[in-house]
Amino acid sequence: MSKQYNISLLPGDGTGPEVVNEAVKVLKATSADYGVEFIFSNNDLGGDRYLSSGELVTDQDIEQLKNADAVLLGAIGHPGVKPGILEQGILLKLRKEFDQYINLRPVVLYPGVETPLANKKPEDINFVVVRENTEGLYAGAGGYIHYGTENEIATQESINSYYAIHRCIKYAFEYTKNNNRKKITLCAKTNVLTYAHDLWERIFYDVAKDYPEIETDYGHVDAVCMWMVKNPEWFDVIVTDNMFGDIITDLGAMIQGGMGIAAGGNINPEGVSMFEPIGGSAPKYTNQNAINPLACVGAAAMMVKQLGEEKYADNIEKAVIDTAIKLDSLSAGKMGMTTGEVGDAVVNSLQNFND
Ligand code: IPM
Ligand code: MN
Repeated sequence: MSKQYNISLLPGDGTGPEVVNEAVKVLKATSADYGVEFIFSNNDLGGDRYLSSGELVTDQDIEQLKNADAVLLGAIGHPGVKPGILEQGILLKLRKEFDQYINLRPVVLYPGVETPLANKKPEDINFVVVRENTEGLYAGAGGYIHYGTENEIATQESINSYYAIHRCIKYAFEYTKNNNRKKITLCAKTNVLTYAHDLWERIFYDVAKDYPEIETDYGHVDAVCMWMVKNPEWFDVIVTDNMFGDIITDLGAMIQGGMGIAAGGNINPEGVSMFEPIGGSAPKYTNQNAINPLACVGAAAMMVKQLGEEKYADNIEKAVIDTAIKLDSLSAGKMGMTTGEVGDAVVNSLQNFND
């Protein structure tokens, strides 16, 4: 009897459906080899639905996603919709609704993949960012007074609760321990954010007491950006707040070879988690069979790992590495293969591990 998992697919906008297709192709072709069966359900939320019906996330969507064991998202972002509406109304709404309080973003340079950092090798770029995913500047606290006048004042507050910081930092230490990593760096700005990040720092060193075997380190966010370029080998696990995590993981995606390969997970360890390639909807490449699906396949591997199928997840990742080496470039349109061929190559490589 195989193990069954209900997966909700949110292909979304632009090239999202194409990359999700390839991830699903890979899972469908190989799951039986691991005693797993995926039951996929599709949901059409995204820019097109919003433009035709005005709907963002409905109660019905929430009900559907609630019953999933995990969610795989393609991309949200549509050139016909004003920036902010879909991001707030769909992506951030889902993260919040399902209390996906961790945004986990590995920054790993695979062998054979080009990094813009001179003289850096796969052994130098291999770390994971644990980003708090529910509050900070993303909490939506703030407002305007005197809107639209020259007296206008706008505020946007960073919300930092003991509860959210503590569970994020605890997750980071547990992640470090369970994944055989050795060191955690707190990335913050304690010299300026003397209240909010002071709280982060106190909680960080407090939680660290329960993990004497894990080395701790601290870096101000600006210095962390510098070291990510100059000495990325210093990092193993980085834990940080929502805004800084957003920024440093785009930098991370670039040093690991670009958006074509960077995957992430919005994780609620006790609930429904949602996995996504972090590259966005790339509208200009829509339906050209030219977008790189490896980031989405990588996101699917993270999903499979979160479901508890470690061996299967590891092999998907190995197949992604195998395939990345075969591409001329990771960028859309320059891969030397079509989107569909990249998916096929991952399937082939995965099937070889099982021969
Ligand atoms: C990301 C994205 C989102 C974020 C946007 C689209 C709201 O940049 O997932 O990193 O800022 O979290
Ligand atoms: Mn971002």
